[in-house]
Amino acid sequence: MKLGVNIDHIATLRNARAGLEPDIVAAAKLALNHDILALTMHLREDRRHIKDEDLYEVKKLGAKINLEMAATKEIQKIALDIVPYSVCLVPERRQEITTEGGLDVESQREYLKDFIKPLKEKGIIVSLFIDAQNGQVRASKEVGADYIELHTGKFSNAFEKGSCQRELNELKDAAKYAQNLGLKVNAGHGLNYKNVYLMKEIDGLCELNIGHSIISKAIFCGLDRAIEEMLELIK
Ligand code: PXP
Repeated sequence: MKLGVNIDHIATLRNARAGLEPDIVAAAKLALNHDILALTMHLREDRRHIKDEDLYEVKKLGAKINLEMAATKEIQKIALDIVPYSVCLVPERRQEITTEGGLDVESQREYLKDFIKPLKEKGIIVSLFIDAQNGQVRASKEVGADYIELHTGKFSNAFEKGSCQRELNELKDAAKYAQNLGLKVNAGHGLNYKNVYLMKEIDGLCELNIGHSIISKAIFCGLDRAIEEMLELIK
């Protein structure tokens, strides 16, 4: 299981003062010194954290970028210009605090099929961020995704409340179903140093994308140690 480090919240902090600190390129360089698969960056429509120029600067480092993005033409144009290692299509609502649910692939099959095609033609791996539901998994296969990323938010919330077995089983079942269809499976959202060990119970997970908990820990012990400790936990 590999780690994708989401560095959005370095940019959140920087933007709080509309200045240059903390420097996202310095954070990216630090993260890239570790055995991670990719840097995950979410270019939101309102640019509340990552800005377009951040992507270009981080790409210049030769980093593998996993670009989280809404399936809009404006962001697609940027993705086709940057050509990240992968994109992960997410739903997006301006008012939400974070990505609060999975992408509804079932209800927009035709749109997503057309949307994904030019990305794949550029050699970009395409992942869809979905809830652990068989219908969404099946639709993801039909529209041409390479990967799904299972939304672990429900699991993480249940873990906090003390019982997450049902949510973990849902993730396991959806992962197995997806793998049987030939999809590769990632997971992310709300994962932290306490709950991440349970992801090892899901067979064949490729990558975990983790941001908030790593950046939060980094405030106290530094980004190097925060990443290293997470890597230890998912080994
Ligand atoms: N994966 C996806 C698709 C996301 O939208 C997010 C949040 O940006 C994450 C992973 C990381 O979530 P967290 O910051 O809670 O670790």
